[in-house]
Amino acid sequence: MREILLLSGPNLDLLGERSPEIYGAATLASHVAAVRDRAGTCGLGVRHLQSNFEGDLIEAVHGARSSAAAIIINAGALTHSSWALADALATFDGPKIEVHLSNPAAREPFRHLSTLAGVVNGSVAGLGALGYLLAVDAVAHLLGGEATNATPDPTA
Ligand code: DQA
Repeated sequence: MREILLLSGPNLDLLGERSPEIYGAATLASHVAAVRDRAGTCGLGVRHLQSNFEGDLIEAVHGARSSAAAIIINAGALTHSSWALADALATFDGPKIEVHLSNPAAREPFRHLSTLAGVVNGSVAGLGALGYLLAVDAVAHLLGGEATNATPDPTA
C-alpha cells in the first residue's frame, strides 16, 4: 500500500491545550486519526511523525525519499524559519502539501513567510481540521487514481 508521510513540527504535540482559540480544541492524535481514515478511503496508508527538533523532520523527509509516496506537513513555526527543511523537501519527488490549522497570512508578520511554500505542490491554511482532509484529497488526486467523493473532477 502506498504511504503518506504526515509530519508535525514543533509544539503541535500540545494541540488541544495550546491556544485553542487559534488552533482549535482537537488534539494532534485526533487529526492524525482523521488523516488515517481519509487516506484509507483513498487506498493510502499513513505514517506520522511529530518532532520538536528540526533535524528529526529533515531526516524523516530523507527517509521518505525511498519509502513514501507523498508528504503532508504542518511544520509549525519551522515553516517561517527553516530553509534546511525546505531544501530537504525539495529533494522529495512525490506530492507534497503544506497544512496550517490557522491562517498565518492573517496573523503576525513573522508568520507571513513560508520557506516551504515554494517547494510544495500546494498549501492549505486557515481551515482547521478540514485542512488535513483536503490535503489527503489533494495527495490522492496528485498521485492519480483514487479520487474521493470530496474531490470533484472539474472535467466531469
Ligand atoms: C501553524 C501556524 C504556525 O505559524 C505556528 O507556529 C504553528 C502552527 C498552524 O497550524 O496554524 O505552530 O503551523
